[in-house]
Amino acid sequence: MEVCVVGTGYVGLVTGTCLAYLGHSVVCVDVDERKIEMLRKGKSPIYEPGLDQLITHGMQRGHLSFSTDLSKPVKDSEIIFIAVGTPPQPSGKADLSFVKEVAHSIGRALDCERRRVIVNKSTVPIGSGNWVEMLVKEGLNDNPVWRDKLASSAKLQTGSAASSRRLNGFKAEDVFLVASNPEFLREGSAISDTFYPDRIVIGATDAYAAERLRALYEPIVEQTFTPPASAPRPADVTAVPVVTTDLASAEMIKYAANAFLATKISFANEIANICERVGADIKEVVRGFGLDSRIGPKFLNAGVGWGGSCFGKDVSALVDIAKEYGYEPALLHSAVDVNKRQRHVPVQKLQEALKIIKGKTIGLLGLAFKPNTDDLRDAPALGIAQELIEMGARVKAYDPIANEACRRQNPDLKIEYAASAIALAEDCDAVVIVTEWEEFRSLDLNQIGEVMNQRVLIDGRNLLDPQVVEEAGFKYRGIGR
Ligand SMILES: NC(=O)c1ccc[n+]([C@@H]2O[C@H](COP(=O)([O-])OP(=O)(O)OC[C@H]3O[C@@H](n4cnc5c(N)ncnc54)[C@H](O)[C@@H]3O)[C@@H](O)[C@H]2O)c1
Repeated sequence: MEVCVVGTGYVGLVTGTCLAYLGHSVVCVDVDERKIEMLRKGKSPIYEPGLDQLITHGMQRGHLSFSTDLSKPVKDSEIIFIAVGTPPQPSGKADLSFVKEVAHSIGRALDCERRRVIVNKSTVPIGSGNWVEMLVKEGLNDNPVWRDKLASSAKLQTGSAASSRRLNGFKAEDVFLVASNPEFLREGSAISDTFYPDRIVIGATDAYAAERLRALYEPIVEQTFTPPASAPRPADVTAVPVVTTDLASAEMIKYAANAFLATKISFANEIANICERVGADIKEVVRGFGLDSRIGPKFLNAGVGWGGSCFGKDVSALVDIAKEYGYEPALLHSAVDVNKRQRHVPVQKLQEALKIIKGKTIGLLGLAFKPNTDDLRDAPALGIAQELIEMGARVKAYDPIANEACRRQNPDLKIEYAASAIALAEDCDAVVIVTEWEEFRSLDLNQIGEVMNQRVLIDGRNLLDPQVVEEAGFKYRGIGR
């Protein structure tokens, strides 16, 4: 099928590239010329394992191309994805200005030759499907092709009876339908998550739209494609469930999923904070209650709290939606509050261990909000660095991938960037593990300890074995243990 994906961020680019791999003909569109220029050279502007190879593969087979202008790809496509950002506003409300701009542009670009399905993949507040439909219609009203079509329809209605019957009642729905298809991929494993999702959610008011989206995803639903080398098929994946529902429910499924996961992490952090006070170990506690099949062990890692572009933004947007309808979502408020407090915990532990922070050198291991990505949106490391700098510390940082992105995106943040964990440790009075990168599991603690001023390690992700760290002569502080 011919597909246009508008927005080449973490979601749009991965979706477009994976659909091209499945054999669809995909054009990815972005207003960011720098991104499109890089992509045309086969280079991904974001770090996502395996993505560069799949982009090259798609381009070489002629299934994947890139553009800064959506007019032609919109005309050429049967399915048009909106995958632009919906960042939070200071009030917590989702900023829908990018979605609005794209929906209008799509309306202005459509011709009347065939029926398109316009798919909201961006995470958008409940009711946005209907809103996008209205915006595309507004765009259509500025579209000369559409106006001509309406004019000839009106003329024909006053002409022959047969023509009148054919075109009488010609509607925008004959040119486009809107569907919702929320995305659940995780940065760092986005390709695998796209090919082997837990479910595909399709929200539509019209059976035709749902059927076309189901057809698009057929190779994934039935798992009939040959997996790429970078994303082998897990042994237990034989088919993928499709949840077909109404627009509002599809939109709500995405918010409910993220709110639940965020709450689960906050719950683990709440229990960790109590563990610490009563002398229990959160790792042991989670092992014990996570084995309960009603609970499950995932998303129960205590640490410095959640971050990233989605959890905070989506929970705030859901709170805002609830309030709009006169409901005070107490549980969601608490999940956010616990997370805010948790970001401060490493700093408290540094104060406990070092007493005076002023004039001390603190090394942060990890900047990205989670491993295997260079995404720094709402990354806990940024807030921790800022707080320490304000307290008078010298802050160094090392991230295996995100140093450069952090330097570029935060020119005013006075961090000294190190090229390795050992270079980071030099002259440090303490190091803090902020992101659970795999390489931090096997740090050479003796070597690191030798170049530090003091052997203090705050394990903000409970990554290391406290006994091993203490045997290397470190003062160790984990979270909830
Ligand atoms: N990042 C994730 O892990 C993730 C997961 C699931 C859902 N989502 C949701 O998906 C949506 C996109 O997220 P993302 O992380 O990919 O965002 P992103 O910020 O990485 O990418 C958005 C892209 O849209 C482009 N864009 C903005 N306006 C445009 C326009 N008028 N025309 C063309 N391109 C335009 C931007 O230049 C940017 O490249 C958001 O609603 C997000 O909540 C994200």
